[in-house]
Amino acid sequence: MARITASVYTSHIPAVGAAIDLGKTHEPYWQPAFAGYEFGKQWIRNNPPDVILLVYNDHATAFSMDMIPTFAIGTAAEYASADEGWGPRPVPKVRGHPELASHIAQSVIQDDFDLTVVNKMDLDHGLTVPLSLMFGVLDPVKDRWPCAVIPLAVNVVLYPVPSGRRCFNLGRALRKAVASYDEPLKVQVWGTGGMSHQLQGARAGLINREWDNRFLDRLIAEPAKLAEVPHIEYVREAGSEGIELVMWLIARGAMSDIDEGGAPPKVLHRFYHVPASNTAVGHLILENR
Ligand code: DHB
Ligand code: FE
Repeated sequence: MARITASVYTSHIPAVGAAIDLGKTHEPYWQPAFAGYEFGKQWIRNNPPDVILLVYNDHATAFSMDMIPTFAIGTAAEYASADEGWGPRPVPKVRGHPELASHIAQSVIQDDFDLTVVNKMDLDHGLTVPLSLMFGVLDPVKDRWPCAVIPLAVNVVLYPVPSGRRCFNLGRALRKAVASYDEPLKVQVWGTGGMSHQLQGARAGLINREWDNRFLDRLIAEPAKLAEVPHIEYVREAGSEGIELVMWLIARGAMSDIDEGGAPPKVLHRFYHVPASNTAVGHLILENR
């Protein structure tokens, strides 16, 4: 059977993608942010998954304000990098896993989560920046990402957004879905976006280190309680875009301790850095025991 081996959490800042694409990662401003990913790059090279179930948000790229699903799963064989206004990021095409994605859709929808099934879409920085952070610079034509990726898009850009509780429970349903897939695949679940940031209005530039670090503590040690935090607290404490953090609860809900009991997952790596663009960089790697 397929199994979830680990979860990875990371910010997806577009300026980080630009720094990678323009060869600026060693500049003094960026170096400390990228240093936080050296462990993860080495770890994933030694522990390559077959598939990443990558929870992210689209930023009005594939889904315009005309139509925006709360949760959407990509079932395509291949996805192109989206043009967000400066041309598509120069990264390889993302290879999907239509069979596992369709199985997950079947299982999770029957488990009462309404996923929109997406057979064709382009992927923006929300998905490709986390891939670049963990896999480094690849040639867009000659190289391939080392594994298949199933995009799972969450609406955190247009209200109403899903609650932390619903996200956490979706993670639990995803775990069941993966565990019932009849092929011995190693699957990682990634929760991306965040941490505290506000890009608009009077509080633009808001960063809340204390709240972010408490979020990391609670995500590791008491995720079910953290899932009860209402969206208004994210907005007040972490800024209007800090709500992206609910996506981290999906990945955490998919870890084995939640429904099978036992100790919380092993914390392989934890990193927090301010500033990067308008936000804090947060990154965590948790491994199932
Ligand atoms: C920034 C961060 C984001 O998560 C995003 O989607 C857009 C911009 C920023 O820090 O500038
Ligand atoms: Fe974002």
